[in-house]
Amino acid sequence: MDDGMAPMTLADLPQVAALWEEVGMWPHEGEDAEWLRGALARNPGCALVWREGGRVMGTVLGAWDGVRGWIHRLAVTESRRGRGLGSRLLAAAEARLRELGARQINLMVYEDNGRAWDYYARRGYERSPVKVMRKRLGAGGAPAGAAGNGAEAGRDSPGK
Ligand SMILES: CC(C)(COP(=O)(O)OP(=O)(O)OC[C@H]1O[C@@H](n2cnc3c(N)ncnc32)[C@H](O)[C@@H]1OP(=O)(O)O)[C@@H](O)C(=O)NCCC(=O)NCCS
Repeated sequence: MDDGMAPMTLADLPQVAALWEEVGMWPHEGEDAEWLRGALARNPGCALVWREGGRVMGTVLGAWDGVRGWIHRLAVTESRRGRGLGSRLLAAAEARLRELGARQINLMVYEDNGRAWDYYARRGYERSPVKVMRKRLGAGGAPAGAAGNGAEAGRDSPGK
């Protein structure tokens, strides 16, 4: 595999998962190889990796739902931060979403991830007045857990 930016493939999953685990975005219930296969197929060219020495050092998972573009899973391994990799991955995913027709891109950031809020603000994102709600679906589409909040699965990733 060449170094630099490239579309994410299913074969990248082990390294991608290791990076997401490093930054606290993984594991997440239901996100397995089949999940990634679907995400890549439905969003061609939107999921990208950055490789160095054949290793995945950064990721972004862009998604186009036909109404809005979304940025998920922007992550760069700690030792490679501050070199512009995150900016390049983000810009490339944004360009691809624009190509697909998106005229607005949304992303989700934890309230307490102040660095990420500042990071995205410096890249043209603004705080939306909209708050995100979610319903976790268990196997077969049933609401997960009595409270339906899936708390047992731990904290969700910002990409959700
Ligand atoms: C957010 C993240 C992807 C940025 O990746 P990156 O490759 O460091 O991004 P860049 O090099 O383009 O920009 C880094 C910025 O942080 C600053 N920075 C410098 N060293 C840094 C370091 N060691 N760690 C974090 N940020 C650093 C840079 O000055 C730069 O500031 P700028 O916004 O004024 O340009 C990365 O910090 C990360 O993976 N964080 C954890 C996961 C996360 O929170 N993702 C966003 C979730 S919504």
